[in-house]
Amino acid sequence: MKRTLLVVGGATETVPGILRAQKMGLHVIVSDMNPLAPGCIAADEYLVSSTYDVEKTVAEAVQYNKNRRSIDGVICIATDVPHTVAHVSNELGLPGISLKTAILATDKLAMKQRFRSDGVPVPWFKSVDSARDLEMCAKSNDFPLIIKPVDSRGARGVLRLIPGFDLYGGFEVARAHSPTGRVIVEHYLEGPQVSTESLVVNGKVFTVGFSDRNYEFLERFAPHVIENGGELPSFLPAYIQDKVKDVVARAIQSLGIKNGVAKGDVVIHNGDVYVIEMAARLSGGYFCTHEIPLNTGIDFVGAAIRTALGEKVNPKELTPTRNQGVAQRYFFPRPGKVISIKGVKEVQARPEVAFCEIRVKPGDIIGPIDSHPARAGVVIATGADREDALSNVKKAVSDIHIITQSQ
Ligand SMILES: Nc1ncnc2c1ncn2[C@@H]1O[C@H](COP(=O)(O)OP(=O)(O)OP(=O)(O)O)[C@@H](O)[C@H]1O
Ligand SMILES: [Mg+2]
Repeated sequence: MKRTLLVVGGATETVPGILRAQKMGLHVIVSDMNPLAPGCIAADEYLVSSTYDVEKTVAEAVQYNKNRRSIDGVICIATDVPHTVAHVSNELGLPGISLKTAILATDKLAMKQRFRSDGVPVPWFKSVDSARDLEMCAKSNDFPLIIKPVDSRGARGVLRLIPGFDLYGGFEVARAHSPTGRVIVEHYLEGPQVSTESLVVNGKVFTVGFSDRNYEFLERFAPHVIENGGELPSFLPAYIQDKVKDVVARAIQSLGIKNGVAKGDVVIHNGDVYVIEMAARLSGGYFCTHEIPLNTGIDFVGAAIRTALGEKVNPKELTPTRNQGVAQRYFFPRPGKVISIKGVKEVQARPEVAFCEIRVKPGDIIGPIDSHPARAGVVIATGADREDALSNVKKAVSDIHIITQSQ
């Protein structure tokens, strides 16, 4: 009988991971509150439960495990719910991270406190209880600051305190995005930003995903912090990349991940490496499913799935077989009603365009861009090297026209 994998969350970006699991000969069940979610449609079976509803997801998984097929592994792909995954794996006695690790990985305050006490470099941070508290902090601090909800994702409510920033309104925005109503303030560290993705095998960290993040629209979307894709291989010199990998490994050890995946957000400020966040899950934005394999030739999601099933991945499988250029960009049409979308088929047909997804259709309303899920589409191009991939992706972006009419 096929082994069974439960995937928590069935959003669009999860589908390539589900298809990968099925190709590996697994029976895939997806849990999602929406039975019509793309992941539920792609899966062999689905369970109806919100990814954030830990109790219900556990109850559904236990029922399924008892009455239908025994579940061999649980994972989330491009969905930030490691705590839900950890509760299921702990309840069913499956491989996975501990509940303690899951809490540290989803609570930015607890995570940073842990990092600080373990000597993992993080930007200066402080919990702020009120807008007044934030105001005091801003007055007594010369450094640029950034606020964020303690437990959200997708850059929702992540705001830079730029000149003229409304501290009271901004604090409320950040707080409203926190399910527990908590906000932290941090030093905003300028410098190159990097996304990493690692697989941990018996405590040994293999950082195979390493992408420069593009923040060319920092001012356009200010005070929001909206990433516009990235490029691989990194432009950073090898010794800095090694420093990043070293700090990433220490952060992963600090969280207590012995076997599993970890997605890092890292900044290099004045030559020093700081961890902004380390998530105990597979990345979103098609980094794990597309960019890493395109860049390195490594079947990263396959390796992560096998780890979730309790298999030990051979380090050889985590060794890059190539270093292809890969570049990703997002679409940011002007706010308004979408009137027409042109050029998509022609761009998708180009051999160097590995992936192109437009997430809006005529008639949709494009609002202001205030988080990552608000982006209107994504394109990933390859190239002989980084520069070649970059020019291919820029051409793809300029040849697709999402025309909007202001309302
Ligand atoms: N202290 C900081 N210094 C510099 N940049 C920061 C800082 N904090 C956050 N950022 C930038 O803002 C982005 C979003 O912040 P953060 O990762 O904390 O929020 P998030 O909601 O988890 O976003 P995502 O899901 O995109 O990772 C970071 O990836 C980073 O680029
Ligand atoms: Mg983050």
